[in-house]
Amino acid sequence: MSLIAQKSKDKIISSFEQHVSSGKAEFFTQAGIDYVIGKREGVYIYDLDGKRLINCHCNGGVFNLGHRNPRVIGAVQRALEELDIGNHHLLSEARALLAERLVAISPGDINRVIFGVSGGEAIDMAIKLARAHSRRGKVISALGGYHGHTGLALAAGDEQFRTPFEPLSPGFIQVPFGDLDALEAVLDEDTAAVIFETIPATDGIVIPPEDYFTGVRTLCDQYGVLMIQDEVQTGLGRCGALWGIDTYDVVPDILVTGKGLSGGIYPITATLYRENLNPFMHANPFIHISTFGGAEVGCYATLEVLDIIQEPGFLEHVRQMAEVFEQGFSGLCEKHPDVLVESRQRGLMMGLKLASPQFGPLFTRIGFDAGLLVIYAGNDPSAVQILPPLIIQEPQVHEVLGTLDGMLSALEGMVM
Ligand SMILES: Cc1ncc(COP(=O)(O)O)c(C=O)c1O
Repeated sequence: MSLIAQKSKDKIISSFEQHVSSGKAEFFTQAGIDYVIGKREGVYIYDLDGKRLINCHCNGGVFNLGHRNPRVIGAVQRALEELDIGNHHLLSEARALLAERLVAISPGDINRVIFGVSGGEAIDMAIKLARAHSRRGKVISALGGYHGHTGLALAAGDEQFRTPFEPLSPGFIQVPFGDLDALEAVLDEDTAAVIFETIPATDGIVIPPEDYFTGVRTLCDQYGVLMIQDEVQTGLGRCGALWGIDTYDVVPDILVTGKGLSGGIYPITATLYRENLNPFMHANPFIHISTFGGAEVGCYATLEVLDIIQEPGFLEHVRQMAEVFEQGFSGLCEKHPDVLVESRQRGLMMGLKLASPQFGPLFTRIGFDAGLLVIYAGNDPSAVQILPPLIIQEPQVHEVLGTLDGMLSALEGMVM
């Protein structure tokens, strides 16, 4: 018997409302969205009633390789023949093999890996490592940035998510993203680290000035501060290179990856760091415990993901599809100037900036009717994130562009 649609959609929504999240159920009901994900495959997700959407949200890149990628499923099935999660206290073949592969594709001389389960946990680990290594407390992040909802990650993020949980860890300061003078003004001998997303996604896919990260690297070196790069969304091919930061030709001290690393099948994240940070971890090998971090079955999912994204032509395909989107977006900007302010893009890390913060939620709603899953950015509702699976094919790109065109016309009809 299928696991999908065992009960009617109404019953499922009511059970979700009663036992999972009454607030979420109310939010979606009020928005007129009764979508419950059922079947999923490749670039598509289907509602329990069968309505099909092209997934241009992909949970921030979790579904880079599409839904239920058969190769990743096969790898997990093979792993399940012999393995389980393993024991996080012991030495492990799967973790060693995966770490070796991750290090081989990491920027510069990054050569060590700490595994986790969620992006927030991996960010927490990055900040813990920076503080413990430097014996300094201050951490600088970007206004509008997002690094997850665990303790230190939350403290590095925006006010709207932080305030109800105060007091949080002290020592966090936010500066405008892309502004080197503002960064330099707060750097000092107490600063442990700066942490930035390569392209802030929750702030609406903000593309930094081309020389920004070179400048950040220089300032970090000047003040003896560690550079933490959050590649949770921008890594693993999303920007047309293995890592978004590779496209800026900069090597951070610590790089955090997650989301697409699991192929959407088994959760796994990683904090990657340079050898010079290792003395602390060497002396304290049990200081960061994660029971499920680097679960052995998940390691095999990730090894397959890395095989796929390193195949010849994979990144070239991402860059080609990005070009098709770029041309399409420029046509959309010309055709819909009243509602569409600009398109933002690095590879398939893409966003549309709309003319008002009210438009993002409306646009998302229109997308559900039009057959496209696009979600507005949490820290800037005037921007809509567009992250299709990296395996999207050219005819599907044209379908997405055509649907966006219709959605922009519908938006104009509603607000003009
Ligand atoms: C850039 C970035 N960093 C970190 C995280 C946190 O990841 P997780 O939700 O797996 O904890 C997210 C999640 O959306 C993210 O977008």
